[in-house]
Amino acid sequence: MIALGSDHGGWALKQEVMKHLDALGLEYKDYGTYSEDSCDYPVYGKAVAHAVANGECEKGIIICNTGIGISIAANKVKGIRAALCGDCFSAEMTRLHNDANILALGARVVGSGLALKIVDTFLDTPFSGDERHIRRINQIED
Ligand code: RB5
Repeated sequence: MIALGSDHGGWALKQEVMKHLDALGLEYKDYGTYSEDSCDYPVYGKAVAHAVANGECEKGIIICNTGIGISIAANKVKGIRAALCGDCFSAEMTRLHNDANILALGARVVGSGLALKIVDTFLDTPFSGDERHIRRINQIED
């Protein structure tokens, strides 16, 4: 199960992500926001982060205008490694090296075509499991 969340700035791109996940047959849960009315991105970043941290969802995708505010909020939750990605290389590396469990996107930064490729890369790339990366991830939590 993939947790989705956005503020009003990310709402339209989130609709594209949902259509894409539907086409791939992947299950998701939308934690809001549910319209383009102005709202506060920390609410939705943290809702997705808690769903991932408590095991309700395996991964999350969060979106605001820049992806910055919502990723900062999500990363406040223990156990969350939210990575803001604007390219597929970063999405691949953050899975391989950081075992990132949430992808953050900036709706005003990337077009929907690139965003969906980033989503695919993030979801399809496993964690490397290398000892040095496990050690470094553990140091983040210290
Ligand atoms: C909302 O206006 C905007 O601040 C938000 O979408 C995001 O870009 C924050 O980092």
